Amino acid sequence: MTYLIFARKYRPKTFEEMIGQKPVVQTLQNAIKNNRVAQAYIFSGMRGVGKTTAARILAKALNCQLGPTPTPCNKCELCKAISEDRSVDVLEIDGASNRGIDEVRSLREGVKYKPIHSRSKVIIIDEVHMLTTPAFNALLKTLEEPPPHTVFIFATTELHKVPATIISRCQHFEFKKISQKEVINHLVDISQKEKIKISSSGLSLIADAADGSLRDAQSLLDKAVAFSGEVINDEDLKEILGTISKDLLFAFSKTILEEKPDEVFPLVEKVIESGYDLRFFYKELVQHFRNLLLVRSVKNPQDLLSLNEEDMNDLKEEAKKASEEELLRYLVALQQGEPGLKFSSHPRIYLEVFVVKLSHFKKITPLKDVIQELEDIKKELKSPSGKEFNKITFQKEKALEEKVLEEKVLEEKAPEVSNQKINEMTPNKFEEDKGKKEREIEAAMKDPSVQSFMDKFKAQVLSIKPIKKAEDDKNKLPFDLGRKK
Ligand SMILES: Nc1ncnc2c1ncn2[C@@H]1O[C@H](COP(=O)(O)OP(=O)(O)OP(=O)(O)O)[C@@H](O)[C@H]1O
Ligand SMILES: [Mg+2]
Ligand SMILES: [Zn+2]
Repeated sequence: MTYLIFARKYRPKTFEEMIGQKPVVQTLQNAIKNNRVAQAYIFSGMRGVGKTTAARILAKALNCQLGPTPTPCNKCELCKAISEDRSVDVLEIDGASNRGIDEVRSLREGVKYKPIHSRSKVIIIDEVHMLTTPAFNALLKTLEEPPPHTVFIFATTELHKVPATIISRCQHFEFKKISQKEVINHLVDISQKEKIKISSSGLSLIADAADGSLRDAQSLLDKAVAFSGEVINDEDLKEILGTISKDLLFAFSKTILEEKPDEVFPLVEKVIESGYDLRFFYKELVQHFRNLLLVRSVKNPQDLLSLNEEDMNDLKEEAKKASEEELLRYLVALQQGEPGLKFSSHPRIYLEVFVVKLSHFKKITPLKDVIQELEDIKKELKSPSGKEFNKITFQKEKALEEKVLEEKVLEEKAPEVSNQKINEMTPNKFEEDKGKKEREIEAAMKDPSVQSFMDKFKAQVLSIKPIKKAEDDKNKLPFDLGRKK
């Protein structure tokens, strides 16, 4: 028989088997009992808390041969088909790989037809936040007039990325994190059924690392069994989850502190290859940077860190690569990044991008330097030369202000006059034009042909030849000049 991972083997088949999520389960069961099932639901919440599981149970509850019933039998052909993911009327679509308008269009075509074998068609779209905007718009139309006998269930880990127009047309359920106690109880249950021997502190270690995700807890237990067999001791568990190799942590801090972003990708690959849980690894990385800051800023770090001399020296050497302030900035950034990694559906990419960013961190000017720069400018402006500079700037600004005001007055007086005309009318522009014309005339006068004409003209005027002739010549002036050229 093929080996089934715990997450699949222990997937609840009824609402009663679901752990936590009481408000969701109760509301759904009541809706079925009272025949008030909505046509569209949206299930949101972190990874591995039962969204897809609840969607499948709802599909069975609606379609079970004994139903619709809040307690599907799981024995009839319809229930079995849904459990085994081979029902033609219950479609599970991955929103991440069917993001486009075409996929949603063909889905809309599909839901036009009545269900073949079942009472209701159930369309489950996982990671619905991944749909494109046109796809969402197409979906919106379907949600406005949903075909009868069809129920949509959207699941997402990132509700904020789903348009409000979609959410408002659905009944929304928020799936909560599973409590530490519930996770441990569930792990005890599996351990008993699978005859696994594991200590209660071992189970706490797993529950800690899973951080509210039941699927993560099951996967970690799977990993522990694969590593140690049916007897899992705490040391093995620490190896799997906890004590991330010291070398690996130092390799990461080296990449960051020595600004070597190109080394990030092979390092993350190594973390994954070593079988570490990324979120657990991240916690250890935060701790490592906290230790670096500690040895950099505290006089006697050995009082606070129980490390042997060699490890302490390594830490001190590493911490020398950055200032205390820089280490503080890394630590703050790492802490702020933790929720992002926790909720990311692509933790590996998230970690890679984050560490690359950190390895560029030193290039970003620290706030302290920016403030210092501003202080320097302030001082300069107060100095004697700065005061003179201020005065000139003030005068220039005042003149500019007056000019703008003047233009505004003109504009108000004659709103029909275009801006360009206003410019032409301003005294400055006038002066400028006048100067230009004078220069042009001066240049023209130096032209030999003009000079010879002027000589002739003067001679004519002086000899007081008949005035008419002179006037004729004058009238011809522009024309004659043009011809002489
Ligand atoms: N509330 C729960 N009760 C019982 N088992 C659960 C619960 N949540 C998760 N599990 C276990 O984890 C597995 C995965 O759960 P499920 O697929 O429903 O998670 P999900 O919320 O859809 O996660 P994701 O967002 O990653 O798709 C299930 O097969 C089941 O074994
Ligand atoms: Mg899911
Ligand atoms: Zn059934």
